[in-house]
Amino acid sequence: MSNTDSNRRRTLVLTGASRGIGHATVKRFSSAGWRVITCSRMAFPEDCPWEAGPEDHVQIDLADVADTERGIAEIRSRLDDGMLNALVNNAGISPKGEAGERLSSLTTDVATWQQVFQVNFMAPVMLARGLAAELEAGHGSIVNVTSIVGSRVHPFAGTAYATSKAALASLTREMAADFGPLGIRVNAIAPGEIKTAILSPETEETLAPSLPMRRLGTPEEVAKVIYFLCTEQSSYVTGSELHINGGQHV
Ligand SMILES: NC(=O)c1ccc[n+]([C@@H]2O[C@H](COP(=O)([O-])OP(=O)(O)OC[C@H]3O[C@@H](n4cnc5c(N)ncnc54)[C@H](OP(=O)(O)O)[C@@H]3O)[C@@H](O)[C@H]2O)c1
Repeated sequence: MSNTDSNRRRTLVLTGASRGIGHATVKRFSSAGWRVITCSRMAFPEDCPWEAGPEDHVQIDLADVADTERGIAEIRSRLDDGMLNALVNNAGISPKGEAGERLSSLTTDVATWQQVFQVNFMAPVMLARGLAAELEAGHGSIVNVTSIVGSRVHPFAGTAYATSKAALASLTREMAADFGPLGIRVNAIAPGEIKTAILSPETEETLAPSLPMRRLGTPEEVAKVIYFLCTEQSSYVTGSELHINGGQHV
């Protein structure tokens, strides 16, 4: 890293920043002095809880290919020096049936499959490719947010969601090989049961008592592992998927 690099404020592009894990991630990076460019469908919140202006928020619908392409061009135009230090692909959706039931391979309609794969899998590919030059210039790091359900059947999370996360884990391996020669590290984090809006309401009562750590995780506990993977502490880590689940995978 040159002197010019180390004097510069580091920049993160983060999808799904408006709540949950993404929100905690904004706070973790902002408090360490990073500029955070956030992306989500909602407009810039007036009561924004972190120090940023609307110029650091890109309104983007990752379910829409054309809007994602437009959003990537907008992000690039906001990177004045053409450098990006981290991309965190955190936005994700996990649709349920009309009565809140789990959607299986027998009950998921094609439109839902396509929407889930577009947001959870294709958007990360598009963002990583679209921002590769800036990540290379910034010796950047990519973190893909997968899930424990990518490797096992889950009582509440649906089939399209689970398979999209399995695909994202495989993509992380492929991208580590493709982006490594550019000096860009690519890793994944696989959360278990983290207290956010995406969780089914019954998780706390039914699942948490069976976990080795006997509790749900917090968004802050996930954010600090994302931070680790985007900083010097993990400088030789690439192609890994870290479990953040209180031992749920054992
Ligand atoms: N919570 C858990 O226990 C858990 C476990 C394993 C994995 N994960 C993964 O962790 C990530 C974050 O989860 P979370 O629990 O924090 O979820 P969340 O609270 O439901 O937040 C999801 C975020 O994604 C954004 N988003 C959804 N659809 C979008 C779209 N079409 N375009 C742009 N942004 C979109 C949302 O913003 P807008 O609504 O404003 O667009 C929101 O900021 C997800 O990838 C999830 O699969 C979570």
